[in-house]
Amino acid sequence: MKSALQLLIVLVGISFLHSCKAKTPNNKQKLESALDSSIDKHSYSNIEQISTKHLDLELDIHFDSKSIYGVARHEMINKGTDTAIFDIKNIDIQKVTIGKETEVETDFVIGNWDKDSILGRPLHVTIKNDTKYVNIYYKTTEESAALQWLDPEQTTGKKHPFLFTQGQAILTRTWIPIQDTPKNRITYSAKVKLPKELMPVMSATNPTKINDSGEYSFEMKQAIPCYLIALAAGNIEYKKLSENSGIYTEPELIKACHYEFEDLPKMIVAAENLYGKYRWEQYDVIVLPYAFPYGGMENPRLTFANPTLITGDRSLVSVIAHELAHSWSGNLVTNATWDDFWLNEGFTVYFENRIMENLQGKDVADILLIIEKQELDAELNEFSHGKHPEDTQLKLSLVGRDPDDGMTQVAYIKGALFLKTLENKVGRKKFDAFLKNYFSEFAFKSVTTEQFVEYLENHLLAPNKIAFNTHEWIYEQGMPSNCIKLVSQRFNDVKLLSKRFAAGENIFKKKIKYVKVPGKRKKMRVVEQLERSKYITQEWQQFIRQLPQDIGAEKMRELDANLDFKNWGNSEILAEWFVLGVENNYADVKPQMEKFLIKVGRRKYLTPIYKALAKNPANKAWAKQVYEKAKGNYHEISKATMEEILK
Ligand code: BES
Ligand code: ZN
Repeated sequence: MKSALQLLIVLVGISFLHSCKAKTPNNKQKLESALDSSIDKHSYSNIEQISTKHLDLELDIHFDSKSIYGVARHEMINKGTDTAIFDIKNIDIQKVTIGKETEVETDFVIGNWDKDSILGRPLHVTIKNDTKYVNIYYKTTEESAALQWLDPEQTTGKKHPFLFTQGQAILTRTWIPIQDTPKNRITYSAKVKLPKELMPVMSATNPTKINDSGEYSFEMKQAIPCYLIALAAGNIEYKKLSENSGIYTEPELIKACHYEFEDLPKMIVAAENLYGKYRWEQYDVIVLPYAFPYGGMENPRLTFANPTLITGDRSLVSVIAHELAHSWSGNLVTNATWDDFWLNEGFTVYFENRIMENLQGKDVADILLIIEKQELDAELNEFSHGKHPEDTQLKLSLVGRDPDDGMTQVAYIKGALFLKTLENKVGRKKFDAFLKNYFSEFAFKSVTTEQFVEYLENHLLAPNKIAFNTHEWIYEQGMPSNCIKLVSQRFNDVKLLSKRFAAGENIFKKKIKYVKVPGKRKKMRVVEQLERSKYITQEWQQFIRQLPQDIGAEKMRELDANLDFKNWGNSEILAEWFVLGVENNYADVKPQMEKFLIKVGRRKYLTPIYKALAKNPANKAWAKQVYEKAKGNYHEISKATMEEILK
């Protein structure tokens, strides 16, 4: 019997090779059916028949041409098929061979793009039914979206270029030909060649010093989903924080990063005390250039972080707690498909909050969660009126859509609140024991929502005879009415302050107090005035959020005169302040806002600012001008979102 692959070649002929246009109903049907039968609708791969077990990479990094020449050697478990299907997107395949010691060239066919060019193209490789080794020779292209190449001016040091990758959700296929589904787990090793003055690091064992050969070897011995394969290269240094943790960054930032993340070893201890041993030996953080599109990315052994976290006052360290928590929820126990994304992020936000509670107390942890809950509420409201109200479910159905669409506060915060509500119902002790067991039961496995629900029922709810509306939380839209209520006295206080200011009270008026000094008879006269140091960043953020949307430029100016929000180095404050500024035609913020938009590439901040600007034609025209200046510094991921907003 002819194989599906041979049939395909006969049907469409050789012109189909590398062609994105040639399409006949027959080949289209064939490609679609490959997708249909898979549980992950975002991968063409046939992992049920053949799956990569170990990947050995050879990567030759060329900064001049901004490309990587690569060989991806896949060691596979073949259940007897004669075709191996990989995912590729915007990479050039040069040749494919099979065999380990002796390699023999083999045929391959590159299928058509999917309708909206989200998935890329399937690479069908002809193999024998006992083939175990498939080697793909390739080159990345300018459109390889996982790669961000930075010119020296875009770094802090301004002398050397920089490169970093971002694999999640389905971008690994743009720099490595691979079976790009979180359902499959692989170990990997890599040999990397690059200019001698730069040092590479990966989500693997890493060098701590630059060598003079320009060649480095890496190994990741634990099986990971391939969206966690990551690489960064630049003029970077390492500084140890403890026996198993440290910081990589450009030399100019190393001191500041070291100060900012000094509590990292404590975080690891807190996390281990909660849910069991840290299973990845080493935990380092690399602080990348400002272009990095996320706050953090949980690449195993090496979290990638945005320099906006370096505030000088450790006020955004919860992002590091979050990425560390992913070492359990996400990296150890992984969502099987992107429809199950909440299993990664919801658990991680819950876990992050527990680490923060441990380090900074319940007050602060509550404040952090309330801030996030407000963002969820805004999004739920938007979604319920939008095209996809079903996106407010925890379990998603992203077939035919970009998995990026599922990266919303629903997965993160509704997910976390589900767990928090459950915790409240069953009691912390039982809940912690349950989560700890869940992480060890499913360690190094990828799980579906359904597997989790079954585990929850059998190991927590049924044994304790607890009735819980799990189905409503996971499969229905919006927020269930039993969601835990979050209250914070500290928040109520700033809320009141904000309201008093909006109502016209002079909250900055100096107050004279007489306080008793120990050992002295006379009381001391002190002048008290409201200043920044009275509240933490998140409280000020709340103060801003509680102002009326139409507060007016004059009042904003008054706040800046006293608190100087617009020059505050904290990106969380700046982003909120700029949005309010745009909404109130408060032109004073424009120079700072422009500088911010050009410098920072983190999508979370860019999105609300550009959205606010796009609401009126004059601001939109200005935003387009700024975007033109800034876009060289944005990652493809951020660019795609901003272009959608500005179109
Ligand atoms: N894994 C995510 C980032 C991500 C999600 C990248 C989906 C691509 C697709 C990471 O852990 C994350 O959630 N980062 C957040 C910070 C966090 C504290 C909410 C971010 O970057 O804002
Ligand atoms: Zn996360």
